[in-house]
Amino acid sequence: MRIDIITVSPELIKSPFEHSIMKRAQEKGLAEVHFHNLRDYAINDYGKIDDMQFGGGAGMVLMIEPIDACISKLKAERDYDEIIYMTPDAPTLNQRTANNLSMKENMIILCGHYKGVDQRVRDLFITKEISIGDYVLSGGELGAAVLCDTILRLIPGVLGDETSALTDSFQDDLLSPPVYTRPADYKGHKVPEVLTSGNFPKIEEWRADKAYELTERVRPDLLEE
Ligand code: ADE
Repeated sequence: MRIDIITVSPELIKSPFEHSIMKRAQEKGLAEVHFHNLRDYAINDYGKIDDMQFGGGAGMVLMIEPIDACISKLKAERDYDEIIYMTPDAPTLNQRTANNLSMKENMIILCGHYKGVDQRVRDLFITKEISIGDYVLSGGELGAAVLCDTILRLIPGVLGDETSALTDSFQDDLLSPPVYTRPADYKGHKVPEVLTSGNFPKIEEWRADKAYELTERVRPDLLEE
């Protein structure tokens, strides 16, 4: 998989890709991530990439020309399955979207900034818009990092134990059951007996019950879907 991230703040987004699972995905040769500074495509020598909005109103808007220049250059080099725009006014990211995107070959992710991008960018170039939640970030960079983390960990071979992604919360629209490790008794607080019983059918049943109970209590909306 190849991901090209277009941003006005490459430094803001690079570091999560240099650690842990996202680093491992790249080291194993299973993912390639490239960062493109929108300012390198500015319309003048002063690095202009944004302007005031027509009709008045606070906040600068990212212009179409630099974005077009960057996207066109990338598209001339290879085909892209998706050109994604990170923005709060879009459908919210969920596990289904992550699963779906983890099967793509090449993707561009455009990070919004300031007041957003000229609507014509969205109309002409973007194939998918994603929000990471009902709150406003200062830019799309952190959202893009979250999106990439959810995608890259799903690529077969990235996680050491492949089954662990499959038992994550949300994978069956259920939250994960509680987990415990040693000691079995911490100052009188004991691990549920079934987990140390060695009775695996019973353990599975307990986990399924707990997952359902937890989901019903804290995220009943997932059960309605
Ligand atoms: N940019 C600003 N807020 C955002 C959000 N909630 N999700 C994705 N991109 C954003």
